[in-house]
Amino acid sequence: MDRLRPTPRSLADRLRAGLSWPRPGSVAVSAIGAGLIFCGAVGLEAGSLQSSANPSPPSTTANSTPRPPSPSSGQPSSPVSPRSTTQAPTSTIPSTPASSLPIAGASADAPIQKLFATGTAAPAQESLRSIANPESPLVLVNKTHPLTPVDYMPADLVTLPVRTGSTEPALLRAEAAAAVERMFAAAAAEGVSISIKSSYRSFETQTSVYNGHVASKGVAAADASSARPGFSEHQSGFALDIGDANSGADCDFTFCVADTAAGKWVAAHGADHGFVVRYPVGLESTTGYLAEPWHLRYLGIAVAQDMRVRGIQSYEDYLGLPDAPSYK
Ligand code: DAL
Ligand code: ZN
Repeated sequence: MDRLRPTPRSLADRLRAGLSWPRPGSVAVSAIGAGLIFCGAVGLEAGSLQSSANPSPPSTTANSTPRPPSPSSGQPSSPVSPRSTTQAPTSTIPSTPASSLPIAGASADAPIQKLFATGTAAPAQESLRSIANPESPLVLVNKTHPLTPVDYMPADLVTLPVRTGSTEPALLRAEAAAAVERMFAAAAAEGVSISIKSSYRSFETQTSVYNGHVASKGVAAADASSARPGFSEHQSGFALDIGDANSGADCDFTFCVADTAAGKWVAAHGADHGFVVRYPVGLESTTGYLAEPWHLRYLGIAVAQDMRVRGIQSYEDYLGLPDAPSYK
């Protein structure tokens, strides 16, 4: 895969294509992703999504005043304002305080502490042993834990070697991208063809997605299915939305993806490659989101398998932290 040294603005609008894993004997193209909206934001920016070669910038980003949403702000009564699309992130990642616990930020008696206290390899770099560090695969991102800085952008985004119907790449952090490669290959060996519907999303792209939800159904319904910019796992580069490449687009960003071969496969085997289905059925009040069987989060194999073994479905519970049903 190609390691990118991305210029933030060139990436922000490059992420709207539907991408599919190559399948023998077929053109695995998910141009069906075009016209679909990330995480179910149906109706948003269909025009720009349908033509990745000439994407229309979201009207909401044009000439806007830089004003990232405050992590501590309450429910917005109107769409959030993004930064200017020409403004690069200026914030720096705060240093992580040393912790006497294996994993800083998780509760002392959390399962994750037990995992890394019993000899299983934790991230070698101490700063990565923190759920507050956006660079760490262990970072917690939910409605009470925004990325810090709120306009965080990963430095090691790589292009997944997937065949696509456009010039648009699918981007993830390098470690997650390598895991996706292995996972998709394992699935393909069993005849399951997984497609990528969305991967890394910049602060600006998430702003556009979220605002589209707000415009179509209001703030409350938007918040049930779409993260505000700075609060999305997609912005971390550790999350992706999948579909079933053999099933057409009907189940993309729809609950029925859980019943497809790809949906069943990732639910059963994703942990063996470091991924969990992040928004499970029945845990909406814990995660803060309606179930999304298509949204996978990379946590690393040790954590994902340990969650499976323990039967713990939410990362909040695995960290021993409170539910995150709403913004502070
Ligand atoms: N749909 C998920 C919650 C997101 O927007 O990141
Ligand atoms: Zn998602």
